[in-house]
Amino acid sequence: MPETDFVDVLVIGAGASGLMCAIEAAKRGRSVRVLDHANRPGKKILMSGGGRCNFTNYTVEPENYISHNPHFCKSALKRFNQWDFLALVQRYKIPFHERLHGQLFCDDSAKDILNMLLSEGRQYGAELKISCAIQQVSRAADGGFRLQTSHGGMRCQSLVVATGGLSIPKMGATPFGYQLAEQFGIQVWPTRAGLVPLTLQPVDKEVFSALTGIAVPCEVSLQNYSFRENLLFTHRGLSGPAILQISSYWQPGEPLQINCLPDMQLFKLLKQQRGQGNKLKLKTWLAEHLPKRLLQALLPEPLLECSLVDCSDKQLQQVANHIQAWHIKPNGSEGYRTAEVTLGGVDCDALSSKTMECLQVPGLYFIGEVVDVTGWLGGYNFQWAWSSGWCAGQYV
Ligand code: FDA
Repeated sequence: MPETDFVDVLVIGAGASGLMCAIEAAKRGRSVRVLDHANRPGKKILMSGGGRCNFTNYTVEPENYISHNPHFCKSALKRFNQWDFLALVQRYKIPFHERLHGQLFCDDSAKDILNMLLSEGRQYGAELKISCAIQQVSRAADGGFRLQTSHGGMRCQSLVVATGGLSIPKMGATPFGYQLAEQFGIQVWPTRAGLVPLTLQPVDKEVFSALTGIAVPCEVSLQNYSFRENLLFTHRGLSGPAILQISSYWQPGEPLQINCLPDMQLFKLLKQQRGQGNKLKLKTWLAEHLPKRLLQALLPEPLLECSLVDCSDKQLQQVANHIQAWHIKPNGSEGYRTAEVTLGGVDCDALSSKTMECLQVPGLYFIGEVVDVTGWLGGYNFQWAWSSGWCAGQYV
């Protein structure tokens, strides 16, 4: 067994938050080593945003995050905000562009973001050990921590847990961070998949799988939340940004309410058309606004065959309800296999919102997705990783 060697800071997890924390700590002159069991750092950065990494958003508010303690994220997001990260991206001359809703993506590749972080780390002397399995963590007699790893024993003064969530186990996701929190008596909120496609009940699946590949701009709502984005039909169920967003709020058994023509006062418009003596069949008129196959799935055939001019108020209202207040009860979610994030995690109340240090275990820090702070789709999860990692980096 090699000698136990000492560094000031050990960071477990060479992902977004761990690398950011390591850079900041190394800048302060701390000796820093980042450990990761994967064979390369930042795998999720590389696969993010379809390979272009949606690294932040022009507008970042606490309301864009889900947590049992909605106030916790405020301090970190303020102290290292989207403009601070953008300044780093610009310093590295990484070309980027804005997409819908202020989302910022690399023009070329997510590799640019990872290379920037690795280069910053190297510049300040942070050490990186990949393919390193952590076997045991314990408190050292001097108040620091002692680790048993596949690279031998190690000791540190500050231990940072940046092991992320459970999504995409194939990429190296593990429950290590949650287990370590529990080992030190820190509460962990139950976890579940977020930003994830939803599956349908068998009867609905039979109807809607015929629409696979069709995307429709929709407003998808649950009681208190609603998102206006594209909904995509897949052979397993419903996906697309509107569904991913609402999935983080959805609980099994709840129906979604979907408005497939959110910009239209459909009932009023249909009545107007009838008043003007429009003889078109409903299916023909509606097909100017929605795909035919979707109309066939949502509305009864006899209704679609009616001429507008012959429809009663009741029938027109029925049409509007089917299209604008479509209720569907998902069967479940696709789970961690395809989820972008994990909801729940290390209890914010156990941590300092300024430093990310555990209140009851001095020297132990949790950052990034392992913490019970989950962002919306749109660069918010990376911003949380950068912000929380940066904050911890000032104190470890
Ligand atoms: P992250 O997951 O980045 O890193 C954790 C690291 O810990 C990994 O390197 C892992 O190997 C390591 N690790 C885990 N267990 C370990 C163990 N037992 N021992 C040692 N090491 C261990 N967000 C966003 O804002 N914009 C986007 O475009 C996207 N796109 C996106 C696409 C896909 C497909 C996914 C799955 C996710 C996204 N996300 C995203 C979410 C984003 O990737 C995620 O929130 C951050 O990477 C979280 O950063 P962390 O540093 O917390 O964990």
